[in-house]
Amino acid sequence: MKKTDILYHKDFPLSNKYDSKWILDNSMGPNVLWLTEWLCEKVELKPGMKVLDLGCGKAISSIFLAKEFNVKVWAYDLWIDPTENWNRVKEKGVEDKVFPIRGDARNMPFAEKFFDAIICIDSYIYFGTDDLYLNYLQKFVRPGGIIGIVVPGLMKEFEKDIPEHLKDFWGQDCWSWHTVDWWKKLWDRTGLVEIKVADTLSNGCNLYIKWKEAQDTIGKNPWPDDLIALRKDAGEYVGFIRLVANKVMI
Ligand SMILES: C[S@@+](CC[C@H](N)C(=O)[O-])C[C@H]1O[C@@H](n2cnc3c(N)ncnc32)[C@H](O)[C@@H]1O
Repeated sequence: MKKTDILYHKDFPLSNKYDSKWILDNSMGPNVLWLTEWLCEKVELKPGMKVLDLGCGKAISSIFLAKEFNVKVWAYDLWIDPTENWNRVKEKGVEDKVFPIRGDARNMPFAEKFFDAIICIDSYIYFGTDDLYLNYLQKFVRPGGIIGIVVPGLMKEFEKDIPEHLKDFWGQDCWSWHTVDWWKKLWDRTGLVEIKVADTLSNGCNLYIKWKEAQDTIGKNPWPDDLIALRKDAGEYVGFIRLVANKVMI
């Protein structure tokens, strides 16, 4: 993509290799390639590793992982038809590396200790706030393996009610948005993983705004009013959170 492209961003050289229209058509939240690239800065992926892309949506993060890191990816999602994902995989020529499957994150068909890494982009908020979920998930990673997530979240807790400028933005499904400290505590206290990274994306809200502007430009912004709220927020509350941990060696 050229520097003048609507999705070009200097911080995401790997994502810049992919066509904007393809990314805009197939991201189910804010640019899934930016978020995956940010996560992978802290996830050491080596060729041939077995990776679960949990809640992969339209599987473009899975395709990206296969192409950029030469890993094998199980593209697992509940809402999206795996045949649709398989067609996208074949179009991009990675059918020997990406395997789409439909299923629920709470009832997975995999062998215990099968994966070297589990990544989850913009999906963990749909099931991972359950206090008991990490214990379920970690069973599918080998000891020492990696669990890495990126979620939209809060840069600080609301003082009281939903802030006025976020009232139209904040849907019922936002109640699983939390702060980085909240997530860190949720994982840390279990003793099941050793947390390597727990941080926020600098300028995360600006990236969210850039994404919404790109959707506006092509006339495909499902919630145009979000842009007004995000501009007012300017990162006071809204942003992205990253957690990367290794399963303890037991
Ligand atoms: C906002 S979309 C993000 C998809 C993709 N990662 C992306 O960023 O484009 C959330 C995804 O979570 C998946 N999801 C929600 N609940 C799930 C569950 N219980 N098990 C598996 N996937 C789930 C949905 O199928 C959906 O594709």
